[in-house]
Amino acid sequence: MQIAELRTEDLKAEEFISQQVGEISSAVGDGIAVNALSGGVDSSVVTLLGHRAIGQCLKTYFIENGLMREGEPQRIVELFGGLGIQVEVVDARDEFFSALRGVTDPEEKREAITQTFYKNVFGRVVRESGARFLLQGTNYTDVEETVAGVKRQHNILEQLGIDTEAEFGYKVLEPIIQLRKSGVREVARSLGLPEEIYARPPFPGPALAARVIGEVTPERIATVRRATAIVEEILRDCGAFQYLAILHEDRVTGVREGRRDFGNQIEIRCWDSVDARIGTPTRLPHETLSELAARITDEVPGVVSVTYNIASKPPSTIEPV
Ligand code: XMP
Repeated sequence: MQIAELRTEDLKAEEFISQQVGEISSAVGDGIAVNALSGGVDSSVVTLLGHRAIGQCLKTYFIENGLMREGEPQRIVELFGGLGIQVEVVDARDEFFSALRGVTDPEEKREAITQTFYKNVFGRVVRESGARFLLQGTNYTDVEETVAGVKRQHNILEQLGIDTEAEFGYKVLEPIIQLRKSGVREVARSLGLPEEIYARPPFPGPALAARVIGEVTPERIATVRRATAIVEEILRDCGAFQYLAILHEDRVTGVREGRRDFGNQIEIRCWDSVDARIGTPTRLPHETLSELAARITDEVPGVVSVTYNIASKPPSTIEPV
């Protein structure tokens, strides 16, 4: 791998910020760049670096792919509006769901999302805005996992030999590619991002599609979205690196009001980790697990079974897809 890691203990956030701001402005010059903001710490940092570098010449978009969590994108548009950054929402729900129709293999799902995002949606946004650059928040772990062949992270392009200028019509700039998540959080703090952004648990680029085993449909996303909201509410203060709900493909027999209910299964994962390279399941109190099970079976239609993952990464990975 040609990119050199900048270890968090060697990072001087202020210096890093001015260096990246300088590099973005000299690369873009007096042209236009675009970026996609999901509200995660990586894309939030890149949004701020880009706006410091080129101001209004950076157009920031929230891609509404239909796979995001409850209440977003409104929350992110408002939050960044409060920081003086205008975010335009692009409704691409139909495009993503059509690309995912019938796809069950995890790597094929990731590929469908990458193609829809970079070729269709951003290809169009770039053509319409006249931009020549896409700024994005690829980090060091994303590159490492993809190059090692663990799984293809949705945002890895050049390291896989993809010439983005030839294939999609724009060049990709990746200001935080040398940093691990802990380094990105430090930069976020230095940039003055609020704690709810810099301390936010990671959320994957393929969004809730990374948490649906089997076919991704609007109905199945609605199920995992509701379960995710409950898991995030209950585990918000548990101090873990990341926590998530997963919708399984298999259904199981349950019983509701004395009658058979052939229903869905939700798996919960909660990880202790520093940078997502390795992880162990958090030892959650049994009372918390019971509360999760009760709320999910009560509040998520069709769910009759809730499990907690007890395997570490490796051999597990943080997301199931
Ligand atoms: P895995 O599942 O590989 O995840 O153990 C490691 C970390 O990366 C996040 N993740 C992604 N982030 N694009 C991203 O930006 C992706 O395609 C992607 N897949 C996984 C995951 O949530 C975890 O923090």
